[in-house]
Amino acid sequence: MTKENLAPTASSEAASQTSEIGAASPSKNLKRRSFLKGLGVAGAALSAGPLLATAAEASPRSAIVTVGDVAILRFLAAAEILETDLWQQYNELGGIPDSEVPGGTGNRRYTNAIKKLDGDMDQYIHDNTEDEMTHELFINAYLVSKGAEPVSLDQFRNLPSSQAKGAQQIGRLTNLMQLTVDTTWWTRYRSRTLNPDFGDTLPQAIPTLAVGQHTAIPRTDADLADPTFLQAIANTAGFHFATIEQGGSSLYPQLAQRVTGLEVLRIVLSIGGTEIMHFQTWSDKAGNAPPIADAVDPVTGVHVTFPDLNAPPLGGEDFQTNLIMPEPTAFLNRRLPPCSIIRPTRTRGAAMGALKALTADGLFVGQSSEFFNFMHTLAAQADLAVRE
Ligand SMILES: [Fe+2]
Ligand SMILES: [Fe+2]
Repeated sequence: MTKENLAPTASSEAASQTSEIGAASPSKNLKRRSFLKGLGVAGAALSAGPLLATAAEASPRSAIVTVGDVAILRFLAAAEILETDLWQQYNELGGIPDSEVPGGTGNRRYTNAIKKLDGDMDQYIHDNTEDEMTHELFINAYLVSKGAEPVSLDQFRNLPSSQAKGAQQIGRLTNLMQLTVDTTWWTRYRSRTLNPDFGDTLPQAIPTLAVGQHTAIPRTDADLADPTFLQAIANTAGFHFATIEQGGSSLYPQLAQRVTGLEVLRIVLSIGGTEIMHFQTWSDKAGNAPPIADAVDPVTGVHVTFPDLNAPPLGGEDFQTNLIMPEPTAFLNRRLPPCSIIRPTRTRGAAMGALKALTADGLFVGQSSEFFNFMHTLAAQADLAVRE
């Protein structure tokens, strides 16, 4: 990274550094120093303060990319790499492998089970996968264009592939075969009073998916034998799609609030919007998952039930499947009128929160401690970013 490239990056950082030095506690300075060091810009940002502060005043806000912006973009690049990795696994087996989204040859029986949710599911899986690939490539390319370091997770591609027909045999970053799927987004977007930003907790739509470990793809061809279990796998995928994409729908607006550069804000808002489009699609399709009274995993013995979400004791405003537009709910202050919004959007600790949610999802079961350390560092740096 050259100093020229860093100038817009370090300048506003340096400006805030100047005002902070007198007041900041030693621990705050130490935190900031290690934060900058992790981004590989400590020397330039800390030593060239006064010069760069002058440059900052002259920079148009649209051209500024602060150290905090870089940290946010690097965490988002990693998140997009992880999204791409999981969506590629879905596309190889249940989507449309082609020149746009290469890899795998498809698995007809799994694809047909997924298509019970919508005849176009394979196309949607393909398109969601392609979108994630472009998010990942774009954010990394943008970082490089600003002289910042792109993110690679290649050293952590060690998790096994499905052995079912259609899957590529390559190392993976994510594990779709031992998921614990949080489906509270279903009731969260239907509630008219509750919002996790106020500390509210919401009930699961599919409680049995939120406990134990469930596969969302056939692990081997043996998983295709029992039609009930195969449909349970497809239904699990159908809910997991929305679980992943609602995470992105919140993560982008959460982090946007701490972006400084207008161009970086434009990137975060523009990519974040497509995550919301994904979530909207999947939240609609999940409601079409055929009810299953009881399916048993022949390998683990774990049971799963997909209730009829439209029939008593469920149904009504909190469960009805066609209520796919966000119901208005409490926002900012309960004294203000309810509003139809993305939720949650509180920014504090958002990157670490996203990492924790993905981890709790079981997506990284089998990953190394080095992987968790790397991701933890990226999230911590993103969460130290402040709007300047
Ligand atoms: Fe994405
Ligand atoms: Fe996404």
